Amino acid sequence: MVQEPIISVRSLTAGYGDVRILEDVSFDVSPGEILMIVGGSGCGKSTLLKHMIGQLPPINGEILVDGCCLNTCSTSEYHDLLKRIGVLYQGSALLSSLTVGQNVALPILEHTDLPKDAVDSLVRIKLSMVYLDGSENLLPSELSGGMKKRAGLARAMALNPKILFFDEPSAGLDPITSSELDRLILQLNKIFKTTMVVVTHELRSIFSVAQRVIVLDKETRGIIAQGTPMDLKNNNAHPLVRDFFNPPGQDVCD
Ligand SMILES: Nc1ncnc2c1ncn2[C@@H]1O[C@H](COP(=O)(O)OP(=O)(O)O)[C@@H](O)[C@H]1O
Ligand SMILES: [Mg+2]
Repeated sequence: MVQEPIISVRSLTAGYGDVRILEDVSFDVSPGEILMIVGGSGCGKSTLLKHMIGQLPPINGEILVDGCCLNTCSTSEYHDLLKRIGVLYQGSALLSSLTVGQNVALPILEHTDLPKDAVDSLVRIKLSMVYLDGSENLLPSELSGGMKKRAGLARAMALNPKILFFDEPSAGLDPITSSELDRLILQLNKIFKTTMVVVTHELRSIFSVAQRVIVLDKETRGIIAQGTPMDLKNNNAHPLVRDFFNPPGQDVCD
């Protein structure tokens, strides 16, 4: 049986005001899937992500996320959708003046009226899920790069979202910390069946995490290839895709 997509992007022209960055882009994401969006710097990966979370309005086309049409939904429907999605931004976006615990509590306080003890318990559980037990009272400046990402992930997961969006989760991390974050993403996907949409340009992450990949291209302003990482490595005729997935002197499938 074919599953209904949880995200549907239909003939999207994405950009800023009149500036078109991507044109006529269509793809679906299935529930529980890990989709990676890849492509060279400046091709529009972050722009596409911002449209998918409703931060930018489509210039043309339609975006449906978990039953909510971002073009036509009301403010309260959109607010409701925000409870069902989580976002980990490129720089983690933790508020530096708040403790780690207060950062994770933010979405819970914004979207629920749970009593303080329940909020504190939820914060502890979320931090434990990303292996940051006991770090509630630390400030973001006291965390390493990898810990900041995990704290951002705990905040993104605060309300048990059905969909998690990541913008370059490995950016600024060393390879080992980056692999640990990849393992955590896989683990959360497996345990909670969370749908994951991940923007990246890290080949190792793509091969260890992605179930399906779409490749964006700056020249054509669209999707030039899609498939599993192995498909794209072995069976793609497009020279950009072939080169990206087969960098000289590196076997990414080790
Ligand atoms: N706020 C903005 N206003 C206008 N143009 C922007 C804005 N943000 C990004 N851009 C432009 O959109 C293009 C795609 O950027 P981006 O989506 O950040 O690329 P990527 O994430 O793939 O590196 C770039 O040419 C960038 O300069
Ligand atoms: Mg980007």
